[in-house]
Amino acid sequence: MKNKERSEEELLKVEVAGIRMKNPLILASGVLGSYASSLNRISKNAGAVVSKSIGIDEIEGYKNPTIINYPHGIINAIGLSSPGAKRFYEELKRYKGDAPLIVSIVSTSPEGFAEVVKHFPIASAFELNLSCPHVKNFGLSLGSNPKVVREVVKSVKKVTKKPVFVKLSPNVEDIVTIGKSAERAGADGVVAINTLRGMAIDIYMRKPILSNISGGVSGEGIKPIALKCVWDLYEELNIPIIGAGGITTWKDVIEFLLAGASAVQIGSAFYYSHRYFYSIKESLIAYARWKDENLSEIIGKAHQ
Ligand SMILES: Cc1cc2nc3c(=O)[nH]c(=O)nc-3n(C[C@H](O)[C@H](O)[C@H](O)COP(=O)(O)O)c2cc1C
Repeated sequence: MKNKERSEEELLKVEVAGIRMKNPLILASGVLGSYASSLNRISKNAGAVVSKSIGIDEIEGYKNPTIINYPHGIINAIGLSSPGAKRFYEELKRYKGDAPLIVSIVSTSPEGFAEVVKHFPIASAFELNLSCPHVKNFGLSLGSNPKVVREVVKSVKKVTKKPVFVKLSPNVEDIVTIGKSAERAGADGVVAINTLRGMAIDIYMRKPILSNISGGVSGEGIKPIALKCVWDLYEELNIPIIGAGGITTWKDVIEFLLAGASAVQIGSAFYYSHRYFYSIKESLIAYARWKDENLSEIIGKAHQ
């Protein structure tokens, strides 16, 4: 059957670790995912949505300035500011969206991750943030050590049957080693990548701009780095990869799928428009029809 006769649904749908998505576009954690109302709205055109990373206790976060624009993206050091698992669950209970909800978790220990997971029965899947680059004892502090990654995944897998994704950082010696460690411990997929360590200096004040000095760089400037991470992971891993980092156009999405991503996350681009998913989706349909292929058929094709 020619794709012209296939439905848009068929052209766009993907499945990641058993999670069926109507398209490969996922809202990345942290950018718009603190309120159920935004998630509800975004979910209309999304394949899935990821909520802001949440820990067991409230995290105050850093003082302003926490976000700055630079010509090729954003540098943020929000500091994982969040209300704690109980209060966030009350918020997320109001999620009535049209796409699976992936709950992003942070903690300082393997047991802590498992504890937070238990608070979110509404999640379709969990994403373990082992990659935030700017909060001491969280994220990358654990995620740069393959043994700790293994322990975290094992601990979480003991308390949930839902898919568990590990979000990886490019700021490690070898992202593939960390990805492999997650896979061996039973992770159902990996997300690559979180932000990269970076900073900016105000030349008039002659001081770092972010209150935390250092932050995480995201947005279009990091796309080639993220793409290479996905490429390398696809060569070595057997579990699905969700690509993220600097995706702002439909062409970026296709690149990531061809590199081996089964779906992609988009974050920073939402600072410029809230209608990203709608416009990207329409272009993906046109591309799939032109190529006469469903998007799920092009995953990893650039490796052949
Ligand atoms: C303001 C801001 C807040 C973020 N908060 C989180 C977070 O809470 N947890 C997380 O795993 N990633 C967080 N991220 C990282 C994004 O989810 C994403 O991995 C990264 O920004 C790369 O994608 P992008 O270039 O499309 O933004 C945040 C990014 C930004 C810009």
